Amino acid sequence: MCGIVGYIGKKEAYPILIKGLHRLEYRGYDSAGVALINTQGNLNIYKAKGKVAELEKFAEDKDVSGHIGIAHTRWATHGEPNQVNAHPHFSESEQLAIIHNGIIENYALLKQGLMKHGYTFRSTTDTEVLVQMIEYTQHTSKVDLKTAVQLTLNQVVGAYAIAVLDKNNPNTIVAARKGSPLVVGIGKDEFFLASDATPIVEYTDSVIYLEDEDIVTLELGKEPIITTISNAQKTPEIKTLEMTLSQLEKGGYPHFMLKEIFEQPQTLETSMRGRVNVDQNNIALSGFIDNKERFLNAQRIIITACGTSWHAGLIAMYAMEEFAKVPVEVEYSSEFRYRKPVIHKNDVVIAISQSGETADTLAAIKLAKEEGAFIFSICNVVGSSIPRISDSGCYTHVGPEIGVASTKAFTAQVTALIMLSLCIGKEKGTIPEEQYLQILQDLSKIPEKITEILHQNDRIADFAKTFTYAQNFIYLGRGYNYPIALEGALKLKEISYIHAEGYPAAEMKHGPIALISQEMPVVVIATRGHTYDKIVSNIQEVKARNGKIITIVTEGDTLVSQMSDYCIAIPETAECLTPILSVIPLQLLAYHIAVAKDRDVDQPRNLAKSVTVE
Ligand code: G6P
Repeated sequence: MCGIVGYIGKKEAYPILIKGLHRLEYRGYDSAGVALINTQGNLNIYKAKGKVAELEKFAEDKDVSGHIGIAHTRWATHGEPNQVNAHPHFSESEQLAIIHNGIIENYALLKQGLMKHGYTFRSTTDTEVLVQMIEYTQHTSKVDLKTAVQLTLNQVVGAYAIAVLDKNNPNTIVAARKGSPLVVGIGKDEFFLASDATPIVEYTDSVIYLEDEDIVTLELGKEPIITTISNAQKTPEIKTLEMTLSQLEKGGYPHFMLKEIFEQPQTLETSMRGRVNVDQNNIALSGFIDNKERFLNAQRIIITACGTSWHAGLIAMYAMEEFAKVPVEVEYSSEFRYRKPVIHKNDVVIAISQSGETADTLAAIKLAKEEGAFIFSICNVVGSSIPRISDSGCYTHVGPEIGVASTKAFTAQVTALIMLSLCIGKEKGTIPEEQYLQILQDLSKIPEKITEILHQNDRIADFAKTFTYAQNFIYLGRGYNYPIALEGALKLKEISYIHAEGYPAAEMKHGPIALISQEMPVVVIATRGHTYDKIVSNIQEVKARNGKIITIVTEGDTLVSQMSDYCIAIPETAECLTPILSVIPLQLLAYHIAVAKDRDVDQPRNLAKSVTVE
């Protein structure tokens, strides 16, 4: 993971780099650092363990002047998260500095070679090998910085987004990517560089998304020059950013996560705009319409994703099998890619990813593509790697999601997948017209129903406090709401560090029931639907063992609410859409328990939002 930022221009680089690091902190936050070349030509590096705020404290009394610099916020892969292993890394002579996001798989071999030539290593990172090799190549091959970077990258196995500064060349940054994202921002007499567009948006809306194996040279007073690592010249394609600055700020909320939970009525409205057409009684997804035949001829749909996105995929399995009558398999990308899966040419593979950069999901679709499958992706970050290598897809358009625990991206993924299931079902004639129209109507009312649920925020905050004592939680659900049990448990684990497990409600008697006592809160999603009676029996089983019961029910329900210690009602909707509503109180519950436990909600320990390593 890790976040990288660079600046070259007329302004002071340090404040721009620090602000950029704060924006990218969601990508990792175990250490941070900055390298700057000042006007006297000195290359200064400052690094600190911990978050970017620690770096700021450390650099308070240092010389942070300079109009050119690179900076990094780290999520450790090779080498423990300490000051020495933090980036940037110097080369042997301290002429060069590098920042890196990714993993160099053959670093040990390369390191041995360099040690034989007398190079010494300060850190235990894979990254330091890169900067040493670049310097070694500069000296031995007598080439310029860009060529040295290029020759080095030709020997590297792994993934990288890198940026390099050269003390002898204080007007230039050389950067490159393969497998990890990198965006160049083009301002007036200045260039920016970052892992995503968030550090760039307040200065310019003109960007270049680098492609794998691109090397860019940013030199003041010149156009950006892009070549590939095999030295082919490329014409930079300049795109206009759609992001706005206000999307990157908390807007009065104490945490991004709460802001993002409350944004959901509006984000889903945006996700459905122009797609769910109630007046015309139809759903239009251009990525589907343009590739209808691939979906209609698919004998199987494989969904691949990680984390919360995988939970969205699981809900899609229920919807696609119900409406489109097509077999669906839902795979963890990390398992799928290494399992030697059987993939057919007429399979449709759907990748789901908020970031569009998750390394395992990216690898899974590359594999499926090689086997000739059709790749459709559902992603949020426009221009990210997964949509770029997919055959078609659908963006969720929820704006930047900054809280590490995914909320608004999840509800939009589920919405997109339900829309897709309905499109396939309608085209195949496998969904009754009346049901299609009813779901369409219900979909259009989802935003206002979420607003209604959000009105219960204060009450949820209130009773959440009573659960800070809990060591364990169980979440139960059935059918469409079984994945919500998994998602509710994941949200709690991620941000409160309470152990939580999600289960299909009926599986409880095959093990977890042994855990139930009066100390054990059990969250049950018991909305009206075709397994309602069954879940009522499951609640009885918990109650008989004195478990504390928190339920999510449909408005007007009296039976389950009487059996519950705490009950949250959500508005009635089509059964396939209940997950979009039932997850909202669980997001709030996890949030308020974490706040009551004084956890770092937006940046929980050990996690990162964008997992660009295996
Ligand atoms: C990380 C994040 C999760 C996310 C998962 C998949 O673990 O912390 O919130 O669900 O990655 O990310 P993606 O960007 O592919 O949806």
